[in-house]
This record gives sequence, structure tokens and C-alpha cells, in this order.
Amino acid sequence: MKYIKNQENLYDKKVLLRLDLNVPLKDGKITDQTRINKILPIINFLIKKKTKILVVSHVGRPKGKINKNLSLEPICKNLEKKINQKIKLIKENILHLKRDDLFNDTKEQIVFLENIRFYEEEEKNDSNFSKHLSKLVDIFVNDAFSCSHRAHASVSKITEFLPSYAGLQLETEINALKKVTTEIQKPVSCIIGGSKISTKIGLIKNLIPKFDNIIIVGAMANNILNHLGNPIGKSVKEDNCGPIIDDIFKTAKNHSCKIFYPEDVVVGKTIEDKAEIKELNNIKNDDLILDIGPKTINKIKNIIEISKTVLWNGPAGYFENPNFASGSYEIAKKIVEKNKNDLIYSVVGGGDTISVLNQINVINNFNFVSTAGGAFLEYLEGKELPGIKALN
Ligand code: 3PG
Ligand code: MG
Repeated sequence: MKYIKNQENLYDKKVLLRLDLNVPLKDGKITDQTRINKILPIINFLIKKKTKILVVSHVGRPKGKINKNLSLEPICKNLEKKINQKIKLIKENILHLKRDDLFNDTKEQIVFLENIRFYEEEEKNDSNFSKHLSKLVDIFVNDAFSCSHRAHASVSKITEFLPSYAGLQLETEINALKKVTTEIQKPVSCIIGGSKISTKIGLIKNLIPKFDNIIIVGAMANNILNHLGNPIGKSVKEDNCGPIIDDIFKTAKNHSCKIFYPEDVVVGKTIEDKAEIKELNNIKNDDLILDIGPKTINKIKNIIEISKTVLWNGPAGYFENPNFASGSYEIAKKIVEKNKNDLIYSVVGGGDTISVLNQINVINNFNFVSTAGGAFLEYLEGKELPGIKALN
């Protein structure tokens, strides 16, 4: 892998910089800035080297369609303030852009392309699309470790058309995760939550041989509860997960890995509702499972208590509403308590999980915080991530 930090002669080079600025937005406001703060080093590095920076990122999952709520505009504004420099956001169709349309004002050093997932070619890893992007610049830098599990045009395919380099944050993340996976102390427990069921459920099976305990919370746990015959009302779930879940339990048995899932839950009628604790057999048709219950929280605390390493990705509930944040907060607090006494090595990853930690101000009490969620888990699986493979 070639690292941008070792590169000479960057003066006046046009750099296509892939970032992960997929930050949580509520009514157009950024609710957690961690991912923006983490890319300041690469931006400052490239500014200092006097390059021209063409930033590419996505926000959310617009699925190839323009969606005004998922514009990069608030993110550009936020970054402008942080680096005290003007940023131009290009809203016109990228496919109509030519190299000479960019950076023709000498004062212009940073230009953003609008949300790259407004183009269906991005997720299709489309060759012509990447080729077009490549013509706008001289080199490519991937500083989006947290997107590197996606074989997308601006992450993977693009490397076929440009000299390509690893960015500063990507390097930090890989080095830290490498260290975690090679120096891991047992017993090791993994907590997996969040709402991206389709991304995560398939990879649990591959994590089983590496862990002593796997704790499944968040929306993913709904699938397990449902599969085991519990009603889950109108809770979020993924279809056709039965065989995957059977496989998870069978594999866990073969590897003496214990799988934990909620024993009680907290429900609401809507995501804005107040919380009601419920036993699993008492869930009504109009209930939404939005957090784990107190019995489950206690069980998880006991597992953390006996663990020497804990890895956590994905909140336990709909933490955006404080009524459903207790599960996530209690998990965080228990890890922090152990960490303060150096009794546990803790690694946490993912945009939403970081938001949870920021809400209760404990982000500095973990050994390593990765900006990556899905990529973090796939890395732990031992998979070669498409975006990393493409740089090699
Ligand atoms: C993330 O938030 O994990 C990354 O930005 C990737 O997003 P995705 O899961 O929508 O591909
Ligand atoms: Mg995310």
C-alpha cells in the first residue's frame, strides 16, 4: 500500500479525496461531528502540500436519486468554519463536469462534489463513472476507512484509473485494528447492535470463532426474537433471516461461543413515544421494540465484568430519543467503569455508537474509537475490504 504521507512532489496536484462524511443529520443539523473532526488532519496535510482537493463523500442511502435532505451542504459549511477557508460545493451533474471547470479560480483550493450516492453508478462500482471522475484529477486518496467495505466507484473502481494512496485516518484505523486483533486478551466479548441489519447479520457467523461471547442488541435482535417465536409487533426487521440465524446458533455451539440476545425489551407505539418495559411474551401488534430491558442490561453488565476485551459496534436501542437510550448508556458506563481501572481493553466503532458516547461524554474513556461500523466488523471477520484491497 502506498501512503500519501510519504509522497513527494504533491505541489499543485489535483487530488480526488474520498472521505466518509456520513454524519448524523437531524432537520439539516449535524448532531455528531466526530467524523468531520477526524478528517481535519488529511485536509490540513493536503492544504500544506499546496494540492487542489476535490472531495467526494456520501451521506445516507439516497439510492441513486437526488435527495435534498441528504445534501453535503451543511457539512461543507461546518468544515469551512473549522478550517477557516472557503469551500465550493458543486451541485451540477458530475457527468457534465470537465477538468477545466474545476480550480480555475486560483484562490480555490477545496471543492466538494455533491453526495456521490445521488448517482446510481456509485454503488454499482461503475467503471465509466470512475473513469470520468479520474479525468478531473491527478491522484486518488482514500481516507474513508469506514466506507472501505463497500465496492463502490469512488472507493474501489477509481483506483484502476489513478495512482492511489492511503490517507492519514485510514492508516491510523488499520494500524489500531491490526494491533487489537493480534494482541487480543481473552475472554473477549463483542456487542453488536444498530439498525443496519442487512449489513451485519451475515457476518456474525464469521465472528463466532474469534469471540467467547457475542451479544446481539438493537434492531438485529428483533430478528432473533421473532425467529424464536416471540411476537415483535411492528418492530424493524429483515425478511428471510431464518436460515442465517439457525446457522449462527449452530456455529456458536461448535465453537463454544455464547450468543446473548434480549430477555426483556422497552417498547413504544412510535419512535417519539415514552418508554414501556415489556416481557417478551407481552408484545402487542402495535408495539415497536426500541431498547433492551433492565434484565438484559444486567446480563450484559455481568458479561462485560468478566471480559478482558470488549468490542462494541451499534447502539442497543433508538438512542436518538433519550427514552430509548438507557441500554446503550448503561453498556457504555459499565465499559468505562472497567476501563478506568485498566481491567478491560475496549474498542468501539461506528457513527451511531460514537454519537452515544458523545452524548454522555465518555468517548475518551475507550482504548480505541473507530469511525467505522460495518467496515470495522468486516475487518474483524478477517475479510479483505474492497477499498483496502484496491489500494494494495
Ligand atoms: C457508515 O456509516 O457505516 C459508512 O458511511 C457506510 O455507510 P453505508 O452502510 O450506508 O454503506
Ligand atoms: Mg452509520
